[in-house]
Amino acid sequence: MRDFQGRTAFITGGASGIGLGMARAFLAKGMNVVVADLLQAHLDEARGVLGSSNRAHFIQLDVADRAAMAQAAAETARVFGNVHVLCNNVGVSQRNPIDEASYEDWDYVLNVNIGGTVNGLVSFLPGMKAHGEGGHVVNTSSMAGMIPVPAFAGVYATSKFAVRGMSDALRLALAPYGIGVSVLCPGMVRTRAMTAGDVYRQAHEGAAAGDLRDTIDGGMDPMELGETVVQAIAQNQPYIFPHGEFREEVASYFEEMLAAFPTDFEMDERRRTGEERRARMTAEAKALADALGGKA
Ligand SMILES: NC(=O)c1ccc[n+]([C@@H]2O[C@H](COP(=O)([O-])OP(=O)(O)OC[C@H]3O[C@@H](n4cnc5c(N)ncnc54)[C@H](O)[C@@H]3O)[C@@H](O)[C@H]2O)c1
Repeated sequence: MRDFQGRTAFITGGASGIGLGMARAFLAKGMNVVVADLLQAHLDEARGVLGSSNRAHFIQLDVADRAAMAQAAAETARVFGNVHVLCNNVGVSQRNPIDEASYEDWDYVLNVNIGGTVNGLVSFLPGMKAHGEGGHVVNTSSMAGMIPVPAFAGVYATSKFAVRGMSDALRLALAPYGIGVSVLCPGMVRTRAMTAGDVYRQAHEGAAAGDLRDTIDGGMDPMELGETVVQAIAQNQPYIFPHGEFREEVASYFEEMLAAFPTDFEMDERRRTGEERRARMTAEAKALADALGGKA
């Protein structure tokens, strides 16, 4: 999607950090932007950052709430018409390590991070496919969705691996509609993600939320990241990896996997035919998806 002017983006978790960076970058490209977020305090603050443009609209919702997401899609259509860019950006974490996590920990993180992304897709994709004007989906995963992480981040990483996997499949599925898909996998970004976990969980559970000020010191500027996302959409990049320091770790993770495959093996003819057919289908769908970005 190269033409941004006058088009509409819907961003979950758009009132802080990376989502707010995307909102600002989209507005600068002449887009209409709907900022959806759990916390009214963040929405109020985002309104201040983004200014009083009538191209920005704000919706308070919990991404895990299916009815609220469906209502947000209807409200977006009423306010701006067709949606072209969908950013499923909300992601939360929990404190308990993966081997000690309770059902409540698992439910919270999976319902928000995977469930919230699914709710965005189910509520918005029918409209995006039907209007025929093309568009783009950006799902926010993480470097924790690429490589192994320490125990404390294991539940979070589970959800982020899922978001990356679904994005790969979605990219192939949406290409025939002229809709590109990118998965955003950042490392450290200067946001509230590491410090606000308890507040987000309390608000998700219906309790009053406290004030949030802390950020991840030393992380990348989220506004800079917003501009990176705009460029990735314009080029229909499948993967957005803004943090170069992870390259070696990702390489050694995949090298370890490659080394685990047998290289000398027999294959039944039916198995070979089936796998060749599947690989061909994938390659054809991938060529179509890459062609949207002018790569093929
Ligand atoms: N900051 C980093 O270093 C980093 C690194 C990798 C990935 N990420 C991912 O980036 C995404 C954005 O996080 P961020 O770093 O900008 O954090 P952030 O805390 O600054 O912003 C997250 C926003 O999401 C909102 N939110 C939380 N729960 C919600 C819910 N259930 N429904 C709707 N809104 C909700 C919060 O109110 C907040 O405004 C997340 O998916 C996170 O996992 C962040």
